[in-house]
Amino acid sequence: MKIIIVENYDQLSEKAFEVMKEVIDSKENPVLGLATGSSPIGLYKCMIEDHKKNGTDYSKVTTFNLDEYVGLDKHHSQTYYTFMHENLFEGVEIPEENVQLPLGNGDLEQNCKDYEKAMEDYEVDIQLLGIGSNGHIGFNEPGTSFDSLTHVVELKESTRKDNARFFDPLGEEVPTHACTMGIATIMKAKKILVIANGDNKADAVYNMVKGEVTEDCPASILQNHPDVTLIVDSAAGKRL
Ligand code: GLP
Repeated sequence: MKIIIVENYDQLSEKAFEVMKEVIDSKENPVLGLATGSSPIGLYKCMIEDHKKNGTDYSKVTTFNLDEYVGLDKHHSQTYYTFMHENLFEGVEIPEENVQLPLGNGDLEQNCKDYEKAMEDYEVDIQLLGIGSNGHIGFNEPGTSFDSLTHVVELKESTRKDNARFFDPLGEEVPTHACTMGIATIMKAKKILVIANGDNKADAVYNMVKGEVTEDCPASILQNHPDVTLIVDSAAGKRL
């Protein structure tokens, strides 16, 4: 694992952008695995700025997102569908038919199978990951099998608490379930880029890098992937 420790969130976003941009520039039809949450917002801003300033073309880029909440209308302000359109897709003018996210409504089992099948036709060139404070990746909570494919999960209380900041202002509760790429799905990516910032990620980052490879810390599986770059700020990297 290549580890880069930077001072602050802005530097983290710029470094992550360099890694992402190198992949986008080196492929004719880049396939990006994308993440939501607060961690990638700065990176996405850099991608939009670069598209606007330098004309980086996203018309041949295909994207697969990691996860989606179950039970929210697709256009609800807190779906990952909405998040991705507001924070990246509209800004880089990627064609709608090029973007994929798991569907959190309807026949969920079938949706998960269809998502996994859709991904089989592609090889993800770079998978972006944040990390949950409990070591989750995507929405693969502690205890998830390392062999898992795209599936429905029940969210841990700690994860629902972490994400309550987005739902509280709406007077709504965080959904109890989500659809997520599985750990085996994530591990198929050619390259993985993990970003984490802030004190509350320090233990999860430590366990991911230096802890035992165990299903109790889903992110620890990344120790077994041949091409992982981890970028952390000094707070998240303080135990490394
Ligand atoms: C969320 C998402 C993950 C994300 C993680 C960290 O719940 N499902 O994909 O990486 O938890 O989120 P944040 O970046 O907001 O700390």
